[in-house]
Amino acid sequence: MRVLVVGGGGREHALVLGLTGDSAVEAVVAAPGNPGIAAVAECRAIDAVDPGAVAGLAVETGADLVVIGPEAPLVAGVADAVRAKGIAVFGPSGAAAQLEGSKAFAKEIMTAAGVPTARAYTCTDADEVARALDEFGPPYVVKDDGLAAGKGVVVTEDRTHALEHAAQCNRVVVEEYLAGPEVSLFVVTDGEAALPLLPAQDFKRVGDGDTGPNTGGMGAYAPLPWAAPDLVEDVMARVVEPTLAEMRRRGTPFSGLLYVGLAITASGPKVIEFNARFGDPETQVVLALLETPLAGLLHAAATGTLAAHPPLTWRGGAGVAVVVASAGYPESARTGDVITGAERSGIIHAGTARREEDGALVSAGGRVLCGTAIGPDLEVARDAAYALVEGIGLADSHYRRDIALAAIEGRVTPPRR
Ligand code: AMP
Ligand code: GLY
Repeated sequence: MRVLVVGGGGREHALVLGLTGDSAVEAVVAAPGNPGIAAVAECRAIDAVDPGAVAGLAVETGADLVVIGPEAPLVAGVADAVRAKGIAVFGPSGAAAQLEGSKAFAKEIMTAAGVPTARAYTCTDADEVARALDEFGPPYVVKDDGLAAGKGVVVTEDRTHALEHAAQCNRVVVEEYLAGPEVSLFVVTDGEAALPLLPAQDFKRVGDGDTGPNTGGMGAYAPLPWAAPDLVEDVMARVVEPTLAEMRRRGTPFSGLLYVGLAITASGPKVIEFNARFGDPETQVVLALLETPLAGLLHAAATGTLAAHPPLTWRGGAGVAVVVASAGYPESARTGDVITGAERSGIIHAGTARREEDGALVSAGGRVLCGTAIGPDLEVARDAAYALVEGIGLADSHYRRDIALAAIEGRVTPPRR
């Protein structure tokens, strides 16, 4: 099988590593890829959100399967353009990707499907926003309706800050605050059949102890020692199956990766968000633990044959990923700083580039790279991930020191039902 991977972040680096580890794969091309990916696959420069360009490259490279990593190409209809060439695609249509592309649309689907989620109002002016804020009370949750690279959501006790954020967005969703630990559950689906991956936990805030602004994600671990044994089964039955059924009913079946972001509240799991693709950095740990050949799994989802796929198998133990971010992230991101220590197994590249003059590895984004390790338990995996990160040289970079720590210390406790 020849595979084209679209994207060039940490998630795509993890996907490429998984795909090249599948003996059914002859070749992987990544577009645009990054310097970490370039060490194991051919990279091709491309505008990943241009449907015609991606479809053309899929034909040119003789791809049997195209895997689309990020949300922007999906929302732009890249999967539709590739499918129109008769090539199997892992990733939803533009219409189905609206589950991530519009928070208001996602709420509409959840309401129609009876999926447990935060109560919410979609607001178009300041009066509506103020009324919704006052109905729910603090902490206030204000979400930009459209794609915002993980930065469109503000959760704050400060009503003025909530109003200011709303004023910067076109259409906003104001919703009830959900208290409880968060879970990222990835589900591979062909629109009908669905296979859940291991639940993971992401760290959204920039600072230790969940302080500071939201980011794209500063670290992750899996599996979740504190989760109820029936969590995945429960979420499949109450969230995933009804959502997939509602999407089919509307004539826009969702195939690819349904990312269910949940809060485990006192009244059970509730959806915080849907994404239409793998999460970053959770993918790094989840795929490191997956034993099932990745290309075969994604190909089955892309070709509507997932019901015939064997059950997934996992390496025992646990995985941890710790993200190294550039100076100023998430407010701004300084780029162009030289990176040392990145050529080690377990270092996953995200925002890195080669400097034109001399080929030196430099930072090129907010989340620069992450250290990913697996081990027999969370503690061992965590120590190994931090050892990787501590060996990175990048001026003024920062990372969280508490990834997976509360889980190891038994301090993650879902509220009692
Ligand atoms: P989202 O992009 O919708 O996942 O939001 C980003 C982050 O904001 C989430 O991972 C949560 O940490 C937080 N968040 C979003 N919605 C809520 C909510 N209703 N209650 C509590 N926290 C939330
Ligand atoms: N880790 C969160 C996301 O990928 O959206």
